[in-house]
Amino acid sequence: MAEPRCIDRTALLPRLERAADFAARQVRATIERHPDSFPIYTVGGRWAHGGELWTDWCGGFHAGLMWLLGRRTGDPWWRAAAEHYSRLLEPRQHDREVHDLGFIFLNTYLPWYRLTGDEHLRQVLITAGRTLASRFNPRGQYLRSFLAPESLFIDIMMNVPLIFRAAREAGDQRLFELAAAHCRTTERTLVRPDGSTAHEGLFNPDTGEFLGQSTQQGLRADSTWTRGLAWSLYGFTRVFSSTGGPADLAVARRNADCYLRRCPDSLVPPWDFDAPESPDRPEDSSAAAIAASGLCDLAATCRPLDPAGAERYQNAALTILDSLASDRYMAWSTPGWEGVLKHGVYHLHRGLGVDESVMWGEFFFLEAVGKVLGFADGASGSNGTPPDA
Ligand code: GLY
Repeated sequence: MAEPRCIDRTALLPRLERAADFAARQVRATIERHPDSFPIYTVGGRWAHGGELWTDWCGGFHAGLMWLLGRRTGDPWWRAAAEHYSRLLEPRQHDREVHDLGFIFLNTYLPWYRLTGDEHLRQVLITAGRTLASRFNPRGQYLRSFLAPESLFIDIMMNVPLIFRAAREAGDQRLFELAAAHCRTTERTLVRPDGSTAHEGLFNPDTGEFLGQSTQQGLRADSTWTRGLAWSLYGFTRVFSSTGGPADLAVARRNADCYLRRCPDSLVPPWDFDAPESPDRPEDSSAAAIAASGLCDLAATCRPLDPAGAERYQNAALTILDSLASDRYMAWSTPGWEGVLKHGVYHLHRGLGVDESVMWGEFFFLEAVGKVLGFADGASGSNGTPPDA
């Protein structure tokens, strides 16, 4: 079992500042080189390559980086860029083809709305939440993935907080209950007793009967695709901030304990925990970045009742950041590389973005750095509390 190291913050914080400065330079260069585009993964370190998307789900991460950098620097250039890129995403509030509207709107319109309280932004959040809720299958009690009516993905746990937000803004109890039902179905069908997760669940969409676990991006139906586990850890933590339900917090903690139990000492996992060990087994730095950000919030959530547990999660987040903000993962020592964080994986089986930079890895890395340095909401962030959904 990998136990989090006790990290010397005075040595780590300057490295995180350097990482955030580097991220600002890389994101700005990407905006200048590829204006108005929303890259997903690099090929040989380059964002523009015309490769397959599988699905279009990442716009909120590129724009979300701009919101984070605007908050860190107070520079109006970032604020203008963040607003511009967010507006480009606004039509997606009506997009019924994907399950990713949380990824898109929680990282763009939500920070914008929190800053301004603007009514139009609030309405966009409500509409996007209602659009996502239209994917709900009442018989199976789940939000279906973009792939097929019979398919439920673990990734949706990071999107369902958008429905909780819409429910709260609209005062719509039905929406709240639908989102809560999705969480219970996910817990029942995708989260295993040891805290590991399956990527996908398959249902009979007509009867709602659960047929079994499956995977698209992981090694096998019964394996643990590490990014999926990180989505669950962070997703259930965020959901708890809306529901206050002990079951949601318990799942997040089981996920976190599984992550820590199965990770190497760096706390940067292989792409799937069950992939056979070999020198060329890809790691997924993006799973580590998501886990770091989620662990910061989980630590803040647990602190009042379980200070020792909270300390363990916070040390784990710092251990991950200590590992990632290093020459091995930061592209600062790779001339010409356009991303921030190397050694991410998008879709191994399709050969997309393997051992590359991936936009969500960039976003959650900077978000976690921001939680520690105080420019993002979260455990050690400016308001000292976990963000609500
Ligand atoms: N489609 C979400 C992911 O690749 O994690």
